[in-house]
Order: sequence, then C-alpha cells, then structure tokens
Amino acid sequence: MIELKGRNVTKSLENGQGKTILDLALKHEVDWGFSCTRGTCARCRCLITEGLDQLAKPTDEELDRLEPEELEQGFRLGCQAIVKGTGPVTAVWKPYF
Ligand code: FES
Repeated sequence: MIELKGRNVTKSLENGQGKTILDLALKHEVDWGFSCTRGTCARCRCLITEGLDQLAKPTDEELDRLEPEELEQGFRLGCQAIVKGTGPVTAVWKPYF
C-alpha cells in the first residue's frame, strides 16, 4: 500500500510499482506541488516516512539536488523516486517553501 499526503489531500493506493511518486499523485488527484519534472526544481520534494527501502535508489538528479543528509533522513524528489516494492510506503509532500 502507498499512502500519499499532498497539501490537503491524502490517498491510499493499492500499489504503484514502476511509477514515480509524482506520477501516482497526479494520477490519483493528490495535490502535490511540482514544476520541472526533471529533478531540478525540488518543488516535488517529499519525506518518505515509511518504506524508503521500497523505492528505487536515488537518481543522479536526486544526488545532485538533495544534500546527503536529506537523503539520509528520507527526503526524495517525487518526480524521480520510483516505487519498486509492494511493501507499505508513506510519502509526505514537503517542499522547501
Ligand atoms: S518537479 Fe522539479 S524536481 Fe521534481
């Protein structure tokens, strides 16, 4: 199960393997901020509060855009982070501003 928490909307999805967090949020009408979809603006940044290991490894764009400490804390870019596993994942939209 994947729980997505946008600005005001929270949705639980059965699964979303192979899709990015942002793809899933848009498809399921979660109000998730974004702009570039290329991993540079960080408007889509989110905190993975559960199931970080269910996501594919950070992309080069995430490694460039996010600080190592942020990655360690579980921050990812929604437009880059692909769901890989079926285990529970909780993603909370948390842009810088
Ligand atoms: S939408 Fe710009 S970094 Fe994800």
